[in-house]
This record gives sequence, C-alpha cells and structure tokens, in this order.
Amino acid sequence: MNSNTLSAYNLTDITMPKHVAIIMDGNGRWAKKRLWNRVRGHKQGAKTVDEITTFCRAVGVEYLTLYAFSTENWNRPKKEVDALMNLLDEFLRDKRETLLKNSIRLNVIGSIERLPDFVRNRAEDLMKETANDYKMTLTLALSYGSREEIVSAVKTIAQKVESGEMSVHDIDDKVMNSSLYTSGMPDPDLVIRTSGEQRISNFLLWQIAYAEFYFTPVLWPDFGEAEMAKALHSFGNRTRRFGKTDEQLNEEK
Ligand code: FPP
Repeated sequence: MNSNTLSAYNLTDITMPKHVAIIMDGNGRWAKKRLWNRVRGHKQGAKTVDEITTFCRAVGVEYLTLYAFSTENWNRPKKEVDALMNLLDEFLRDKRETLLKNSIRLNVIGSIERLPDFVRNRAEDLMKETANDYKMTLTLALSYGSREEIVSAVKTIAQKVESGEMSVHDIDDKVMNSSLYTSGMPDPDLVIRTSGEQRISNFLLWQIAYAEFYFTPVLWPDFGEAEMAKALHSFGNRTRRFGKTDEQLNEEK
C-alpha cells in the first residue's frame, strides 16, 4: 500500500473493499460530446483503466474486476468491435511491465474462446507470466455474460451428478461458487457503474448478492483517482448487515 496516496485522498481510516467490480460505461457519449468517433472514447477509456488499476493497487484493493466487453457487445458494428479488440491487445502489450513491476496478476473471465487468437494468446501468456507473487488481481471480463456463466456452471454440476461423481444433496453455494469463472475469488464488496445508468447488465449476477452499489453520472473516460476515492469513501461510510440486525452486529464487535 502507498501511504502517500492513502493520505492524499483521506483514505487512511476507511474500511477498504477487498474486491471492487466496475461497469465502465460512457466511452461513446464522452466522444460524442466532442463530436469525435466512438473509438476515441474507448481509447481514453483504456487510459482510465490504467489510472484506476494503479490507484487501486496503491490503496490496497486486492481484487479489481472490470467489465470490458460483454457477450452482447459482439453485436456492435464490426469496426467498433475490431477497434476494441486492438485496444485490448495494445493494453496487454503496453502494460505488461507495469503489471509485473507492481505485482498485479492478470485474470480473464468470459467465453474467451470467442476472442480473436491474437488477443486470447496475449492474455493467456500474460496470465501465466503474472500468476506468481502477486498483491492484486486485475480481472478483465471479456466476452462475458453472467447468465451464460451460471448456465455453464449448472451444466458442469449436472454432468458430475449424472456421472455419479457428486450427489444432488452435495450441491450448495460453495459448489456453485467453485463452478463459476470467478472460482477462488471473494465476492465483490463494491460495484461501481459510471455514466448515470443504474442497471447491472448481466454482470456477476450470482457474485453480487451482498455487494454495495455506487452509481455516478461521471463518464468512464473522466473517472479518475478523485472519483474513485469518492466511491471508496461512500463504501467506507456504509454499514453492511448481511441480513442481520444492528444489535447482532454490535454484539459481534
Ligand atoms: C461502455 O461504453 C464501454 C465498453 C463497451 C467497452 C469498455 C472498454 C474500455 C474501457 C477500453 C478498453 C478496455 C481495456 C481493458 C483496455 P459505451 O461504448 O457503451 O459508451 P456509451 O454508453 O456512452 O455509448
């Protein structure tokens, strides 16, 4: 953790979320406001990814999960999809050293077999390279859809039951958790969506059961360190009850 960054944003005494998940929205509108092509918005958005990753690492967030490309995004015009794939590839190439230097592990969730070979290969290589001695996990949700993830987990479990490897009575939360792409990761504590939209858009539906939400009108390309610090302050001021009463929580203290 970097104590200078923590004190610069008055974050020293706040409860830090262990896992932050972000729906990065508003790149297109950011570009449109300037009468620019949408791709310029995504380019600026990639710079924000860099800034927020570095910031989260500095303040001690252990898991940062970014919704970078949904299964539905394949339906966008081919030119935009191609540009996004190229941007991802550039990001993975240019940030390799930064990730290694700062002990950040890269992880990818989603149906990555649908990604073009050049992006998939680069991501897989970097996942292997960053797999040891890490302090933070950066997960990119690519070609990701939560319903698809849940269906695939259910199929895996059903196959185990069918083959006799598991009984129906063994199925519980733990079995579901370990059958999802996010197996081994804690659930998100804080979900942020930028650009003023207040919906989840098929993102981590199972995993966000007890997450806190933070919606901001700020467009993703404008979402810098100061905005992230505001989200962390908001999280730090909340009481999470996980279904219990205040009295029960006080007794546990
Ligand atoms: C939503 O904005 C954003 C996306 C669909 C893509 C997110 C991609 C990036 C932030 C850049 C590349 C990613 C990485 C990890 C380097 P939108 O296009 O839906 O915006 P709009 O709602 O204003 O049109």
